[in-house]
Amino acid sequence: MRTQVCIIGGGPSGLLLSQLLHLAGIDSVVLERRTRDYVLGRIRAGVLESGTVDLLRRAKVGDRMDKQGIVDEGIVVAGETHGFRIDIKALTGKSMMVWGQTEITQDLYDAREAMGGTVIHEAEAVKPHEMDTDAPFVTYYKDGAEHRIDCDWIAGCDGFHGVSRKSIPRSVLKEYERVYPFGWLGILSETPPVTHEILYASHSRGFALASLRNENLSRYYVQVPQGEPVENWSDDRFWDEFKARIPGDLAEKLITGPAIEKSIAPLRSYAAEPMRWGRMFLVGDAAHIVPPTGAKGLNLAASDVHYLFEALKAHYLDKDDSGIEDYAQKAAARVWQAMRFSWWFTTVMHQFPDQSGFDRRMQESEITLLETSKAAQAAMAELYVGAPY
Ligand code: APR
Ligand code: PHB
Repeated sequence: MRTQVCIIGGGPSGLLLSQLLHLAGIDSVVLERRTRDYVLGRIRAGVLESGTVDLLRRAKVGDRMDKQGIVDEGIVVAGETHGFRIDIKALTGKSMMVWGQTEITQDLYDAREAMGGTVIHEAEAVKPHEMDTDAPFVTYYKDGAEHRIDCDWIAGCDGFHGVSRKSIPRSVLKEYERVYPFGWLGILSETPPVTHEILYASHSRGFALASLRNENLSRYYVQVPQGEPVENWSDDRFWDEFKARIPGDLAEKLITGPAIEKSIAPLRSYAAEPMRWGRMFLVGDAAHIVPPTGAKGLNLAASDVHYLFEALKAHYLDKDDSGIEDYAQKAAARVWQAMRFSWWFTTVMHQFPDQSGFDRRMQESEITLLETSKAAQAAMAELYVGAPY
């Protein structure tokens, strides 16, 4: 088989890239290790930057988002005693959209199917070859037989555990990492959300986050120690802890119910460079992971896709390779800004096991600065709503 762009990974990065390329008349094949149901079963992020919203509309997968997504014009930050609102819309002129990654992936799969896009599921032992030559190709197994796809470019959209990044020689790849000594225990519950604006609470018992998916679907998190087994957390224990960490007026209003999903995710900051090796590009989680505190993971995947799509479009349609040459640097520059923001917000909001009284005072002072300084709020709002591409 031959295609112009062979995309490894059928998560949001790979599907969105494939969809945008198709609309520009560029051919691609997506190779995904898992089944469609498995990919759609993953509960992940839910807050979209304004740039991500625009990109999804351009990819013609914005209709359901525009009808059912919840426009979010502000966030609430809380310290030990009370919360305060940061008016993102007033400070930046832009707003976010609460719309789950699961829904985005669903719409992308439907759109690829409707347009006759090739997405090959349960592709095993996917392997990129000859990326540092002009004739790269990808091999994989399906139903016991080996297949080969020749292509012009390979897009490594295969997430943190994928094969693409690992195929870059160790002498070339540089990795940067910080692992945080805690995770997030998240639950999804069919209850009305306690607030329509996302609440980030820094409490001495640990961080808590209130988010939502729709009028009757809430997404809540509490910080838990690293390595904590999820079995230690009954629904009752979760609700008690969550209530203890959010401001009293909200705790009183909180409606609880059974958790329909409950899982723990570790927190890490990770980046690999370069984001391009010969004719292979790294996109999204394949190249970088941010802690979820800034809600940047999916949004960074979208900005990578944007830069790569524009680069490939200029290559095929205008015979201009400057975007290809600039991709690694441009995408990484934006990644590092989001990396800093996510690290900063994580550090301010969480309890660290070895933290001193001084450290807590510094956190409280950061939160007071945010509450009292319009300039600090403006800086935060600009980063939260997302830098333009
Ligand atoms: N071969 C084929 N597919 C693979 C391989 C492989 N060797 N390894 C992983 N994959 C697939 C995974 O099964 C998954 O469906 O690649 C896909 C990668 O998807 P994600 O992990 O969701 O990564 P990405 O598409 O970059 O999405 C951005 O940012 O913060 C996060 O939650 C956000 O998951 C979202 C991500
Ligand atoms: C979520 O809704 O899952 C969510 C919201 C905000 C974050 C992280 C996750 O910062």
